[in-house]
Amino acid sequence: LEPRIEGIASSIRVVPHFPKPGIMFQDITTLLLNPKVFKNTIDLFVERYSGMDISVVAGVEARGFIFGPSIALAIGAKFIPLRKPRKLPGEVISERYELEYGSDCLEMHVDAVLPGERSLVVDDLIATGGTLCAAINLLERAGAEVVECACVIEIPELKGRERLTGKPLFVLVESH
Ligand code: PRP
Ligand code: MG
Repeated sequence: LEPRIEGIASSIRVVPHFPKPGIMFQDITTLLLNPKVFKNTIDLFVERYSGMDISVVAGVEARGFIFGPSIALAIGAKFIPLRKPRKLPGEVISERYELEYGSDCLEMHVDAVLPGERSLVVDDLIATGGTLCAAINLLERAGAEVVECACVIEIPELKGRERLTGKPLFVLVESH
């Protein structure tokens, strides 16, 4: 296995029963405390997406904002924040998505992409896939082409990948 992946996996702190009983919280803040591991994380994404003609990196608030901009700068793409409701001042489109209890919503500035722009969606983690699904829908409704989604961590048991209906998903580590 790629040694950088091992370093990333061992830098993620797993916090049992946070924020609720039964949840094994995947804490990437411990990864961010190690500059070499943080850089390796960004580098692995940049190595994959360089030369793929991607002009848009969209990051999901909040933890997608930690990784997305560095990837965007390194591959020469623009960065688009996909935000929680009522944060963006321009004309927005919205996508609701279901959570374990209740629902949430992401918003995007409609004029942030050009028709057919090749886009990458970045987040820290895919669990049920609801968040990434909403992100893909926003970009496609705005006229972009979503080439792939990229996350640091996947929780395979939750089968979020299946919810992306064939859209490619690239992850660095799996958590169980
Ligand atoms: C977490 C995580 C992903 C999402 C994954 O974000 O950062 O964005 O959940 O879950 P899903 O695949 O089941 O949709 P959260 O909404 O907790 O908020 P945060 O990023 O603002 O901390
Ligand atoms: Mg999040």
